[in-house]
Amino acid sequence: MYRVSIENFAHNAKGIAKINGKIVFVSYVLPNEIVDIDIVSQKKDYSIANLVDIKKPSKERIEPICKYYGLCGGCDLQHANYSYQLELKKFILKQTIKKIAKFDFNDIVVVASKNPFYYRRRVKFKCIGKEYGFNKKKSNEDVLIDRCVIADEAINDYILKNRCKNYEILVDDKGLINPKKGFLDLSFIKDGLYINYSPKAFVQVNRYINIKMIETLIDMVKKEHCSFVLDFFGGIGNFSIPLAAIGCDVVNLEYNKSALNSFKDSARMLNLSSKLKSKRINLFMPFNLKEKPDCVVLDPPRSGAKRVMSYILNSKPKTVFYFSCEPSTLARDISSLLSLYDVEKMFLFDMFPQTHHFETLVKLKIR
Ligand SMILES: C[S@@+](CC[C@H](N)C(=O)[O-])C[C@H]1O[C@@H](n2cnc3c(N)ncnc32)[C@H](O)[C@@H]1O
Repeated sequence: MYRVSIENFAHNAKGIAKINGKIVFVSYVLPNEIVDIDIVSQKKDYSIANLVDIKKPSKERIEPICKYYGLCGGCDLQHANYSYQLELKKFILKQTIKKIAKFDFNDIVVVASKNPFYYRRRVKFKCIGKEYGFNKKKSNEDVLIDRCVIADEAINDYILKNRCKNYEILVDDKGLINPKKGFLDLSFIKDGLYINYSPKAFVQVNRYINIKMIETLIDMVKKEHCSFVLDFFGGIGNFSIPLAAIGCDVVNLEYNKSALNSFKDSARMLNLSSKLKSKRINLFMPFNLKEKPDCVVLDPPRSGAKRVMSYILNSKPKTVFYFSCEPSTLARDISSLLSLYDVEKMFLFDMFPQTHHFETLVKLKIR
């Protein structure tokens, strides 16, 4: 056992200590704490340790409210108060941009979640017999649960009353649980604006933060007077449809068929088909596009969007709005644009409180 001081914090919510100069990663700790740890794995350049005891706790430490915390693989920041979680995420974003994209960006706007708990409108459970559960942290073993403190309360009510049937549970903006079609209410942009979606397509899990992301995008698109927008990884049209509703012509580029079907249905229903086009395209394979948009929106999965960067460098849209759920690939991708673009704005949207995950939006402007 070793007694160490937590000197730094890493992206995956791991505290960093040093033993004889070698880095040690420890979960469930916070910066400046003094803790006892057991080394459980030795690698060439670093070690991994388990927390044994907290000798000097951080003033930001709180008691986690979930009885499965530390056992379940879901949350990893519940031991920090919510405003400190935001501070840690901002620190991680700044550090990642500095380390990988090699520039400092100090003016990051942080948008907190209205509900730091009970915010997830979609949860994938594991059925253990007829009971609900999740995987244990970093393992395939089960942890049975009767309640999840980050799931929408409607989902918690549902799992109390129903046996597990091996499917994802989602609650939509009509308050329906597990409907065959989901419903996103975007009337904050324009009356009657809504999107239908299939549970087989991606949906942003935190309703409040999704609204903030759309509002922020729309505000900037209006200021930039974007008229023709390509929405890379556009999914069900979460950004495309609000953009068309304010008058932009939009092409949604996406690979998932269910997402594209929902998108086309919504466009038809809303009488926006003349403003909204789509192309089924695998953006991880080489692609050719003739379109010359003035603005580009992209929202890739965690692996990022290397090929879209090459497209942007060739077609030179005046503004790029890059949404990302993974700061390291975001930093890698935007660094490849810095020869032509300046980073004008950066927002951190806390889509996933109690976990180390978050969304970032970067606005890049051509020089
Ligand atoms: C983070 S989601 C964003 C979706 C949408 N922008 C939204 O806000 O709901 C990423 C999207 O990328 C799509 N995607 C994943 N791999 C892809 C690929 N190889 N080519 C094109 N789209 C892909 C997924 O289907 C998903 O819709």
